[in-house]
Amino acid sequence: MGVKASIRSENLTKRHPSGGRELTVLDGVSIEVADGEFVAVLGPSGSGKSTLLGLLAGLDRPSSGKVFLDDWELSKLSEDRLAKLRKQEIGFVFQDFQLLENLTARENVLLPLELSGVPTARERADEVLAMVGLAQRGHHYPAELSGGEQQRVALARAFGPKPRVLFADEPTGNLDTATGNSVLELICELRRAEGTTLILVTHDAQVAAAAERRIHLAGGRVVLDESDNGPDSGEDKTADASAAARSAETNGGANRGTEGDHERGSQTGAPAR
Ligand SMILES: Nc1ncnc2c1ncn2[C@@H]1O[C@H](COP(=O)(O)OP(=O)(O)OP(=O)(O)O)[C@@H](O)[C@H]1O
Ligand SMILES: [Mg+2]
Repeated sequence: MGVKASIRSENLTKRHPSGGRELTVLDGVSIEVADGEFVAVLGPSGSGKSTLLGLLAGLDRPSSGKVFLDDWELSKLSEDRLAKLRKQEIGFVFQDFQLLENLTARENVLLPLELSGVPTARERADEVLAMVGLAQRGHHYPAELSGGEQQRVALARAFGPKPRVLFADEPTGNLDTATGNSVLELICELRRAEGTTLILVTHDAQVAAAAERRIHLAGGRVVLDESDNGPDSGEDKTADASAAARSAETNGGANRGTEGDHERGSQTGAPAR
C-alpha cells in the first residue's frame, strides 16, 4: 500500500452490559485512515458513530480489537502514556462543546497549550482565536457566547496544539445552515493550514460531500466505505453523498435489530425488532 496509516482499527468491538445481557454497539470495525485524509462518518442515530470516534481517539477502551495511531497500539499504553499521546497528537471537538464554564474563551483555548508545555502558548491561543474570528471575544465566558461562537472556541481549543488527527463529533449539528457552513469552511481551512487528518461525524450531506471519503455505519458495522479520487470535484458529490446517506439511513433501520445476533449462541433474547 505504501501509505502511512495515521489511524487504523482492527476488528474493533464495543459491548455494554444491558439488563443481564450484552449489547454489541460496535461490531468488528476495521478501518484505515491515511495521514492527512478527511473522512466523514455517517449513519443513523445509535449506529455507533460516537462510540467509534471515542475509541479511535483513545478516550474509551474497546471490548476487543485494536486501535493503532501509527505504530502505537492504544490499548497497550498505560493511562499516562495514552493521555500524553492524546495531548500531543489528537484533538477532539465534542458535539456539546464541553467548554469549561468558569474559564474565558481565551483561557479555554490556552489550557491545553499550557498543559502540553507549548512555550508560546499565549501567542498561539491568540492566533487560533483570531483564526476562528473571535480575537475580540477572548475575555467572554462560554455563557456569554452564542452556540456558533462556542463551537468556534471549541475548534480553536482543539486545533491550538496542532494535533495530527482531529476528531469532531457533529461539529455543525447544533448550528443553523449559515453558521454550520462557516464552521465547515473553518475546519477545512484549519486542516489545509496544518495538514491535519480529519475524522468527523455528521448527519449533514453537505459536510459529508466536503469529505474525501465517507464511512457509513449501521448497527455497529461498516456498511459502506466510499472514496473520491478528486477531493475538490464539486457539486455532483453532494447528490451522491445525500443519496448514500439516505440509503444508509434505510439500511440502518433494518440492521439495528441484528445486534443481538452475536449473542444468540448464549442468549435466548430475540433482536429488538
Ligand atoms: N455506556 C453505555 N451503556 C449502554 N449502551 C450504550 C452506552 N454508550 C452507548 N450505548 C449505546 O450504544 C449505541 C451507539 O451509541 P453511539 O452514541 O455511538 O451512537 P451514535 O451513532 O453516535 O448516535 P447519535 O447519532 O444519536 O449520536 C446506542 O444504542 C447507545 O444507546
Ligand atoms: Mg453520537
